[in-house]
Amino acid sequence: MLGRALAWTRPGRRDWHDGDERFARMTLVVLLGAPGAGKGTQAAVLRDRLGIPHIATGDLFRAAVRDATPVGLEARAYMDAGRLVPDGVTIRLLEERLGRPDAARGALLDGFPRTVVQAKALDAFLAGRGDRVAAALLIDVPAEDLVERLSGRWICRAAGHPYHLPMNPPRVPGVCDIDGSALIQRDDDKPETIRARLASQLADLNAVIEHYRSTGALRTVDGRQSIGEVSAGLLGAIEAIDAGAAGRA
Ligand code: AP5
Ligand code: MG
Repeated sequence: MLGRALAWTRPGRRDWHDGDERFARMTLVVLLGAPGAGKGTQAAVLRDRLGIPHIATGDLFRAAVRDATPVGLEARAYMDAGRLVPDGVTIRLLEERLGRPDAARGALLDGFPRTVVQAKALDAFLAGRGDRVAAALLIDVPAEDLVERLSGRWICRAAGHPYHLPMNPPRVPGVCDIDGSALIQRDDDKPETIRARLASQLADLNAVIEHYRSTGALRTVDGRQSIGEVSAGLLGAIEAIDAGAAGRA
């Protein structure tokens, strides 16, 4: 097993890397997938391997709603209705988060971009710091499986770590394996909101997929496999892109 390593030496971009050295060139990775496809589940695995922070706009919005910030007050109605929050507020939120020091060496984005407007804004933001989306990884799950995934999901109160009954249960019923906090269900995992999310968001997802197909960053993994198999597929896709980038350097 490869250990943590000081693997990045190109000046001006990233002078250290605390993940798996095979993925040292991966700075900005986007995880794409429909609601319930497994983005959050896989981000928890990939974050440690890539050595970059996991940034989920859904988590940022849920924190803002909990804290009743102006962004949270604006986002809440959209989230409760299963609709996307408007691009302007979403892009500002993401850019503010990407501007923090821990994201200077890159990030694993989960749930952003969700529209072509967001994708183009991200491209422009990254171009401004001499970077680009290194990989856009689509976790592909058919719509008929998503309702079952979301209606069986439980997340932990402290950090949102996802579980599923019966497919991915915690070791102790009702308790998070990672931080011991209680498991709860998300407000937008009610059956009527699940249906609204799927109905209103899949067209935008398809447009974002086409955006990354056109840039050459898109890789697709079959999300119907087990969680471990999906992780292996995603890491294999990243490794192939990274090896290609190394060959061109
Ligand atoms: P967000 O929080 O991003 O929700 P989402 O995209 O709807 O995706 P989910 O978090 O529901 O699913 P996931 O793909 O992370 O799946 P998970 O790993 O949990 O967004 C929420 C809302 O915020 C949006 O509706 C919108 O209103 C707003 N928002 C957020 N970002 C926005 C943006 N950029 N623009 C505008 N609005 C935005 O897995 C699901 C379940 O399946 C779990 O129970 C898990 O245990 C299980 N599971 C995972 N993988 C497998 C597997 N391989 N086999 C079996 N079970 C599995
Ligand atoms: Mg999620």
